[in-house]
Amino acid sequence: MKKTLILFLFFTLLANCKKEADLKKLPAEITLHDYMEDFVEVVEEDFKKNPEANKQKLFLLLKAVPSMAIEENKEEWQKIVDKHLSENEPLESCKACHQKFKKNYKNTYRKRMISIDRALFENSPN
Ligand code: HEC
Repeated sequence: MKKTLILFLFFTLLANCKKEADLKKLPAEITLHDYMEDFVEVVEEDFKKNPEANKQKLFLLLKAVPSMAIEENKEEWQKIVDKHLSENEPLESCKACHQKFKKNYKNTYRKRMISIDRALFENSPN
């Protein structure tokens, strides 16, 4: 009986640890790094497991990324995202953008705060 209880508590804890990217919980301001890690990457994993159920959420998150760029990169980020989403290859956008921009962004803008435009997530499935 005791064992069952301990097991039950263990699994409850485990279930609570599962990372969830609830778009409603997007903070008003966030660094690009945390947006990527706490939202884009979490939904990417869900998307890999179940593309149909998570495609809309991943697309919403990616569509918002160009608006987060520094002014001089906005156009190119927009092009990358538009291209790969229109080809229905969202995961290709990660590679394309990271290869070209990640290192420099990280070195220079790691702490830059981005304001989240809630309107970009209006059709959120959760
Ligand atoms: C248009 C640009 C762009 C797109 C598209 C993009 N990212 Fe990023 N991502 C960045 C930049 C820039 C950084 C660096 C941010 C920093 O470290 O300050 C980054 C950082 C990250 C990080 C932080 C950890 C690390 O590797 O340094 C993760 C995780 C990540 N991205 C996941 C993804 C995934 C998964 C996708 C696609 C589903 C994606 N990103 C699409 C630009 C992009």
